[in-house]
Amino acid sequence: MDILQELEDRRADARLGGGEKRIAAQHSKGKLTARERIDLLLDEGSFEEFDMFVAHRCTDFGMEQDRPAGDGVVTGWGTINGRMVYVFSQDFTVMGGSVSETHGKKICKIMDLAMQNGAPVIGINDSGGARIQEGVASLAAYGDVFQRNITASGVVPQISLIMGPCAGGAVYSPAMTDFIFMVKESSYMFVTGPDVAKTVTNEIVTAEELGGATTHTRKSSVADGAFENDVEALAETRRLFDFLPLNNREQPPVRPFFDDVNRIEESLDTLVPANPNTPYDMKELILKIADEGDFYEIQAEFAKNILTGFIRLEGSTVGVVANQPMVLAGCLDIDSSRKAARFVRFCDAFEIPVLTLVDVPGFLPGTSQEYGGVIKHGAKLLYAYGEATVPKVTVITRKAYGGAYVVMASKHLQADFNYAWPTSEIAVMGAKGATEIIHRGKSAEEIAARTAEYEARFANPFVAAEKGFIDEVIMPHSTRKRICRAFASLRSKKTQMPWKKHDNIPL
Ligand code: HXC
Repeated sequence: MDILQELEDRRADARLGGGEKRIAAQHSKGKLTARERIDLLLDEGSFEEFDMFVAHRCTDFGMEQDRPAGDGVVTGWGTINGRMVYVFSQDFTVMGGSVSETHGKKICKIMDLAMQNGAPVIGINDSGGARIQEGVASLAAYGDVFQRNITASGVVPQISLIMGPCAGGAVYSPAMTDFIFMVKESSYMFVTGPDVAKTVTNEIVTAEELGGATTHTRKSSVADGAFENDVEALAETRRLFDFLPLNNREQPPVRPFFDDVNRIEESLDTLVPANPNTPYDMKELILKIADEGDFYEIQAEFAKNILTGFIRLEGSTVGVVANQPMVLAGCLDIDSSRKAARFVRFCDAFEIPVLTLVDVPGFLPGTSQEYGGVIKHGAKLLYAYGEATVPKVTVITRKAYGGAYVVMASKHLQADFNYAWPTSEIAVMGAKGATEIIHRGKSAEEIAARTAEYEARFANPFVAAEKGFIDEVIMPHSTRKRICRAFASLRSKKTQMPWKKHDNIPL
C-alpha cells in the first residue's frame, strides 16, 4: 500500500513542476502551464505520459541538489478527435523550460516513436533555451532534436506552438517543422535578442517588435498564424490537425459532410466584374466551393496577394492556392511565390490534392523584386507545382498571363484538370502591352483599334481550349460540382518521377 502511495506522491510532485509560486507567475503572464496546454490540446483523458520521473544528470554548479522530476518538459501521446498524436510541452516553471541533455532525450524519444508509428508531432515551446549549467551537453541535445526534425520532415506532420520565449539556436527546431503558430504578446522568436541587436547594430527594439507574433506573421513569414491567447491557439491547432493525414503513407482523413456535392452557386456567375481591372474577393469563391464554407487559412497576414489553406471537398482535405485580385491585382512576387511554394510542397509531401484558382496578371515588376531575386523565388513555385504528383485541379477565373499562367498549375506542369470560366483571358500578356509591341511606332488611334482587335481575338479562354491547354470551359455556378467530380476521378492517381537522390529546388 505504501508503495502505491509513494507512486501517487511522486506523480503529484512531478505534476506540480516548479511549484505553486512559479505556476502562479506563469498564469499572471496570461500563460497556461505545460500540462494545462496538453489537457486543452488533446481529447479529454487521452494523454499517456512518458518519462515523468526523468531527472537531469548535471553535477556542476550544485545542480545535483535540484533534480526536479520530468526535467522541464512533459512528453507523451494522446488523441485529437480520436486520431493519434505525439506531444511535448516545455514547462517554463522548471528552470525556465531550459533544455538539458535529458530534456532533449525526452523530446527525441517521442519523435522517434512518432516516426516509427506514423503519427504527427506537436511541440509546445516555452523555454529559456539551452540550460546554461549544462553547456555543450545542452547544445548536443538541441542538435539531436534538429536532426529528428529533418528526418521526420515529409514523414509525419510537425506542428510547433510558440507559447513563450524561443530564442537563439532554439528557433531552428520550430523553423524546420511544417507549421508554426504563435500567441500574441506572450511569445517571441529571434536568433539574437534585443540586447545583442542594440550592441551590434545600434537598433533599439523591443522583444515583441523584434520577434513577436505580429512580426513573424506579417513581416518575416516565419510563423503561419497568430492567436490571441493559449486557449485559442490550442483550439485552432486541433482544427488544423483534423485536416492533416497522420503520415506520408496515409490519405488525409475523410469526414462526414452535409453539403451537397452538386450545389449550384448562381452568385458565382457575377463574381468577376465586367471591367477587367476591377478587383473582387477570391476568398468568396473558396468559401462558396468548400464543404460547409470551411476554409482554414495558412499565413493569412502575409503576402495577401495569394491565399493558401485547406478546405474539404466531399469530406476530403484539399489544399487551395489562389491569386487574390484584391491585393497587388493578384500579381505574383517574391513573398507570394515563397508562401505558395512551401504550401504546395507540404501538400505534395502528405498526399493532399491541390486546387489552384487563377487570376494573375503576371509577376510584379521593379528593382526591389529583381534585386530580391524574384527569378529564384518565382521558380520555387513553378518547381513546386511541377514536381507535385498529387491530384492537381486548376480553375482560371479571369487573367492568366505570361509566365505566371504557366506557373499557376497549368497543363504544362502536369495539372490533371484545367478548367476556365468564360470570363478567362489566357494570353501571353495584356492586350494593350501586346499591341504596343507588335505595332510599335503606330499612332495612338491605330494602337487603340488594334488593342480592341487583340482583345476580341485573344482575351478569352477559347484559344487555349482549342489547343487542349484547357480541358473544359465551365459555368462559374457549377464550379463546386465540377471540381468535386474531378478530384473524385483522381483518387487512384499514380505517377512517377525518375529516380533521384533528391531534387535541387532553387532555394
Ligand atoms: C537555466 C534558466 C534558463 C536557462 C531561464 N532559467 N533560462 N535556467 N538555463 N537558459 C531559469 C531562471 O534562472 C529562473 O529560475 C527561471 O528559469 C525563470 O527565469 P526568469 O529569468 O525568472 O524568467 P523571465 O523573467 O520570464 O525571463 C525569461 C528569459 C530569461 C527571458 C528566458 O530567463 C533569460 O534571459 N534566460 C536566459 C536565456 C538564455 O540566454 N538562454 C541561452 C541562450 S543560448 P528560478 O529558479 O529563479 O525560477 C541557446 C542556444 C541554443 O539557447 C542553441 C541550440 C543549437
